[in-house]
Amino acid sequence: MNRILLVAALAAFGMGSACAAPARIEDTAAARLAACTTCHGREGRAAADGWHPRIAGKPAGYLLNQLRNFRDGRRHYGPMAGLVGLLPDATLADIARHFAALDLPHPPPVAANEAPAVLARGRQLALQGDAAKGLPACAACHGLALTGVQPATPGLLGLPRDYLTGQLGAWVHGQRRAQAPDCMADIARRLDGADLVAVSAWLAAQPVPAAAHAAEAAPQPPPLRCGSVPEPAR
Ligand code: HEC
Ligand code: HEC
Repeated sequence: MNRILLVAALAAFGMGSACAAPARIEDTAAARLAACTTCHGREGRAAADGWHPRIAGKPAGYLLNQLRNFRDGRRHYGPMAGLVGLLPDATLADIARHFAALDLPHPPPVAANEAPAVLARGRQLALQGDAAKGLPACAACHGLALTGVQPATPGLLGLPRDYLTGQLGAWVHGQRRAQAPDCMADIARRLDGADLVAVSAWLAAQPVPAAAHAAEAAPQPPPLRCGSVPEPAR
């Protein structure tokens, strides 16, 4: 990774956001943020390795929360923390808005190797949950189509299986945290190992609908309070 290029690109982005003509910033933001796409894949569509996540098209509030999580020590990955460590919220919000606005196709899903019973269990967890284990459906918060909910809940489709198991495992072990109360830490800890694999495998094998946009509002009030999501207006 060329650190000097990266620092220069970020400095240019910061300067750009202070200048007057928004149209010009839009035209050049992609070039300025090319440093990010060396790891996150072309236009932020994810790298093929299943570890460098897609950032294109995720809800802006979600992306901003993640940049702050790396900066403030709730997520741990040295290069990301180093990159955003000195940036103020306003610059992080500009970066988040840039990637959120990219409306790019997703790759086709990879066929699952798991047994049908495992995939059926994964589907049940995603769409119905398991009351006996205190697990609400993933769809209750991530949207009925599982494509996310504005402004801060990401979609669960179009993500590689290894990324899903990695992130859920990171929540179990406290390596990844969100603002308190951290609903995803509760959910991840209620999934046993087999369920964690089942739901990840099923999700990764689903096609992403053509109009894969985050829903404007949650299908129902969230079954658990999530500190990373603004409380719905009463
Ligand atoms: C050296 C490689 C590298 C560079 C450069 C890099 N990232 Fe990352 N980024 C990663 C990795 C790896 C992760 C996942 C780490 C983890 O989950 O622990 C990540 C995670 C993220 C996430 C969270 C994604 C999600 O869905 O939760 C966001 C947002 C992000 N990066 C944005 C950026 C932006 C914006 C830039 C440029 C300013 C950037 N990254 C530059 C490697 C990189
Ligand atoms: C109570 C609401 C709620 C429920 C139920 C829920 N989630 Fe989440 N999930 C969230 C929120 C909010 C975030 C964003 C957290 C953050 O900002 O880091 C999230 C983030 C995630 C992420 C990170 C995505 C990425 O791009 O890095 C994964 C993976 C995930 N959830 C999987 C699941 C699975 C699997 C289930 C069902 C077993 C589930 N979630 C159920 C609220 C929920």
